[in-house]
Order: sequence, then C-alpha cells, then structure tokens
Amino acid sequence: MKALILSGGHGTRLRPLTYSQQKQLIPVANKPVLFYAIEDVIEAGVKEIGIITGPNREQVIETVSSVEWDAKITFIHQGDPKGLAHAILVAEEFLDDEEFVMYLGDNILKDGIVKHAERFRELNPDSLILLTEVNDPQRFGVAELDESGRVKRLVEKPKVPPSNYALVGIYFFKPVIIEACKNIKPSWRNELEITDAIQWLVENGYRVEASIVEGWWKDTGKPEDILEANRLVLDDIKRDVPIKTKAKIHGRVVVGEGTEIDVNTVIKGPVIVGRNCRIVNSYIGPYTSIGDGCVIENTEIEDSVVLENCEIRNAGRILESLIGRGVVITNAQKFPIGRKLVVGDNSQLVL
Ligand code: TTP
Repeated sequence: MKALILSGGHGTRLRPLTYSQQKQLIPVANKPVLFYAIEDVIEAGVKEIGIITGPNREQVIETVSSVEWDAKITFIHQGDPKGLAHAILVAEEFLDDEEFVMYLGDNILKDGIVKHAERFRELNPDSLILLTEVNDPQRFGVAELDESGRVKRLVEKPKVPPSNYALVGIYFFKPVIIEACKNIKPSWRNELEITDAIQWLVENGYRVEASIVEGWWKDTGKPEDILEANRLVLDDIKRDVPIKTKAKIHGRVVVGEGTEIDVNTVIKGPVIVGRNCRIVNSYIGPYTSIGDGCVIENTEIEDSVVLENCEIRNAGRILESLIGRGVVITNAQKFPIGRKLVVGDNSQLVL
C-alpha cells in the first residue's frame, strides 16, 4: 500500500504564522505536525509516500528531506489548493493503480493507523474511512451508517446530523477513487470535495466501510487546535533532562542539548525545551513547548507553544499563546512607557 499525505493548502485560519510557513510544518511538542503523519504511515508498513505540496513547496521539501525516513518519498506539486479530491487527481501517476491511505498532513492521531490499516486489509472494501464520535457533529463532515456499520451517506456540517460520527482526515482507498474524483463537480467553494467522491462510490454500488478512532484525534487547523494538540502530545512524554542544572525541574520535562537553565528557574512538566536555549530566572509551566535557540529571561510561560529563536525578556506572564519564529517580546524600559507593537497582519493579541 502507498500513502498520500497532504501538505498543501493556504492555512488561512492559522495566519499570521502561515504567511511565512506551511501550516503542516508548525511544531507540536517541537516536531512538525507533518512528521506525525509520516511516522504513522511508515508504522503501518508503507514504503512509498507521496507528499502533496502547495504554496510553500520548497519549505516542505527541505524540512522533510532533513530527516532520513524508512520509506521512499516523492513530492507532488498541487499548486493552488483545489480540494482533497483534486489532490488525488494530481497524484494519479504516483498512485499508479495501487491502493493507498490518504492522510491530511495537519491531523494528529494518538494511536496511529496500524489497526485501521489491518481492518482495511481484512474487510477489503473499496474505501475505509476513519470516524470519531463527537459531541458537536454540526461542525464536521458526518457519516450515516447502516445496521452493519457500512457507510450509507456523508453530509458536510449537517444542521440535523444523522449520527455523531465525524470524519477524521484519514482515508483508505482502492484505485476506483480516481474514477470517482473524475466524476464529481466542484462544490460551492469551488473545490473538488473528497466527501463528494466517497458519496459517488456509495451511489455507484462500491463498498465503503468505517473504522472508529478511539484515542484522541486532532485537526490542527486553528491556533487553539495547535495548543490542544500540544497538550495531548505532551501528556505522553517521558522525562529526559540530560544537561547539568541546579534549576527546579519537576515531573515530565524534556530538555535538548546545549540548553542552559539557571538556578532560579522553575520548570513544571509536561514541558519540552529545545536545543541551545537559555532560560534565566523564569517559570515554564505545564503544557509548554519551547523551540530551539530561544532565550527566556524573567518571564513566566504556561500552556504555550513558542517556535525557534524567540527572545522573551521581562514579559510578565504569558498564557495559552502561540508564538512564531524569531519573535522578540520585552517590556518598555524607557519613557514613554506603554505597549509598543510591531505585529504582522492578522495577528491576535489579548493585552
Ligand atoms: P483545510 O484545513 O480544509 O484547508 P486549508 O489548509 O486551506 O486551511 P484554511 O481553511 O485555514 O485556509 O485542508 C485540510 C488539509 O488538506 C490540510 O492539511 C491542507 C490540505 N489541503 C491540500 O493539500 N490541498 C488542498 O487542495 C486542500 C483544500 C487542502
């Protein structure tokens, strides 16, 4: 089986970070979200992975190629994001009439996809879609199942949901999905929708089965989703503090090489601090990830994600924040005292 991982799209809901960075490269627990998808498909036995790229093609290629993977990776350029079914059509040559798993590169699953890949092999349907039970199905694509658990119908954001089973961004397909993608029309938002292609399969007598995700699943489309995914992943880390420090480091904390932490600092896990950081007289509270090369002085940070090479000094207490690369935050030292901001388009500040 092959894999098609989607790493295109504009990621407008994650602006301003996505002006300069492809959203699937934003780190969760200091690892690009996209890497979780690559690891999951490799764990399920996939040896050939196609990665769909979009606006920031070079960045995706460079980041993925910086790691040695136990699989052959081919980059496939989609250009403008014209929908998930369009991404499949762009990959037709790579897929080469084989079955494949399609994995949205901004999704994270606690338990991976091994169990679901086995179910796909066992049931041998034309498609197997992953579903998860949610309390607010009105916000999702929702599947209606028949008595045997087979998929009868898919509806996008239904006012009256036929079930509580929302579509997760992972799908297994036989090659017939390509015919389905060729037979559908763009939706009102001018995209070729994967839900329409799956609905085409059902309506044309093909068998679509479901597999229920039991552990957590997160689609990291918005800033609050990145923070939530960060909490969920950090909940599973193990303590690893290989550096010498007299700081108070409590619980499950991971610290990278070359990082210095002074005696006055307190860190309460779960926390991950990258390599070559300097942390002085600060408090790093639970559910925080600090990227490589950051300097943090006289500041409290909790429940936040800080990307690489930030400088945060005398910044008071920072909470539930997502801070991009190379950001400088400090307090006013000279009159006039006040909030002095140089902030990118579409930033959000709660002061
Ligand atoms: P979305 O999150 O639905 O779309 P988006 O990335 O454009 O985000 P936003 O709505 O904030 O603008 O896309 C789901 C996943 O699929 C995501 O990982 C991006 C990827 N994708 C593609 O690779 N190609 C596409 O044509 C589309 C629509 C999405």
